[in-house]
Amino acid sequence: MNVYDSHRIADVLKPLGFELSDTPEGSDMMVLNTCHIREKATEKVFSELGRLKEHKIKKESEGDTKVIMAVAGCVAQAEGKIITQRAPFVDLVFGPQTYHRLPEMVSKLTGIRSGSKNKRHIDTDFPAEGKFDYLPEETQSQGSSAFLSVQEGCDKFCTFCVVPYTRGAEFSRPVQSILDEALSLVDKGAKELNLLGQNVNAYHGAGKDGKIADLAHLLHELSEINGLERLRYTTSHPRDMTENLIQAHGDIKELMPYLHLPIQSGSNKMLEAMNRKHDAQMYLDIINDLRKIRPDIAFSSDFIVGFPGETEQDHLDTMELVKQVSFAACYSFKYSPRPGTPAANMRGLVREDVKTERLIRLQQLLGDQQKQFNESQVGKILPVLLDRKGREEGQLHGRSPYNQAVHVKASPRLLNEIVNVRIKTATQSSLTGEILTSESESTKTKAA
Ligand code: 5AD
Ligand code: SF4
Repeated sequence: MNVYDSHRIADVLKPLGFELSDTPEGSDMMVLNTCHIREKATEKVFSELGRLKEHKIKKESEGDTKVIMAVAGCVAQAEGKIITQRAPFVDLVFGPQTYHRLPEMVSKLTGIRSGSKNKRHIDTDFPAEGKFDYLPEETQSQGSSAFLSVQEGCDKFCTFCVVPYTRGAEFSRPVQSILDEALSLVDKGAKELNLLGQNVNAYHGAGKDGKIADLAHLLHELSEINGLERLRYTTSHPRDMTENLIQAHGDIKELMPYLHLPIQSGSNKMLEAMNRKHDAQMYLDIINDLRKIRPDIAFSSDFIVGFPGETEQDHLDTMELVKQVSFAACYSFKYSPRPGTPAANMRGLVREDVKTERLIRLQQLLGDQQKQFNESQVGKILPVLLDRKGREEGQLHGRSPYNQAVHVKASPRLLNEIVNVRIKTATQSSLTGEILTSESESTKTKAA
């Protein structure tokens, strides 16, 4: 979501004369887009600001130009005041919901001569106007695989999570506005769209007929777009895996057979303490239903170890669930107390060394499963979207339907094409293969 937001921030700034630069050196404006989900991410903000400050000082000392230093995103939202206190050289602080107001914020600042004080601007509102109604059309192509934000915020209030506080209440964009953006992305070369939302499968936007549309409906609409070959959505909550949405995985061929469905823990006691509103069995039932509808589907998930009150048995329950599902790839984290969340005041803190030890055991198992999954692809022919140049000369990098990184030797003219690749080798993190046909699979036609 932050990658997407960063692109949109660049789009908003373009009419003001700003161009994206590869390096902070010599820039007229630096925007640090931040994440507040765990303490580690938050800590990085201040060290990074210290580094960026040097570029600002250097450029400002060379002339009478004001270099704007901005902090965006969820740390800005949650800790705006602290940022301006700890880093007084920061000029702008704005949350994820207000970046459409950047032109106004920047014009207020640019009248200021370098060196003036107390002219900082903080905008961490949850404005009544919808951000998406004010954003300009995307100016740069995201390439053949593009993000598209369809939903923001979350009403679930898991007890460990800052998202409902930093991103605010659930909001779904209207179907038509999403279709317009999707068409524009496809025009700019996108073949794959990854629909984004903090709780994307809770999507309930205004449909074209004025009725509320769910995610399944939106996916069906998007799948009709000519030239759009692949659809994904992330990230989902098990409670919102409706029958409609499960069925969509059987009906929509553009929907890739890969789903990121966080569970966090395999222990019912922990799931309850986390306020996840589902138990382990409900999760397993969803996995089974999806496998019945789409037998080749693979899953990834998120896990938190060492949540307050987690015992060795709870951890073993998580390990057991992982064995039952067998995941293709997963993210796992040590519980990190976040200020303002209910879990931050819970008793039964788990010792850091115990958390570490549990995380190592879990990651070992998840790593083995990922390797096994990747190895199971060797010998198979997979359609791969070649989305960028590879690290080595003559190589392209692509993504399999399961979002695996695939490296192939290929002519650069195949960049941004979907080609059939026979998988030759696999490691835990990637695959290599050989192109079978140089023909793009994108020759099919669809009704407009
Ligand atoms: N501590 C550790 N992990 C967290 N996540 C969210 N909040 C926390 C926290 N306080 C993880 C969850 C979520 C993912 C995006 O980040 O696993 O699914
Ligand atoms: Fe956070 Fe996801 Fe829970 Fe919402 S559903 S509170 S975003 S972990």
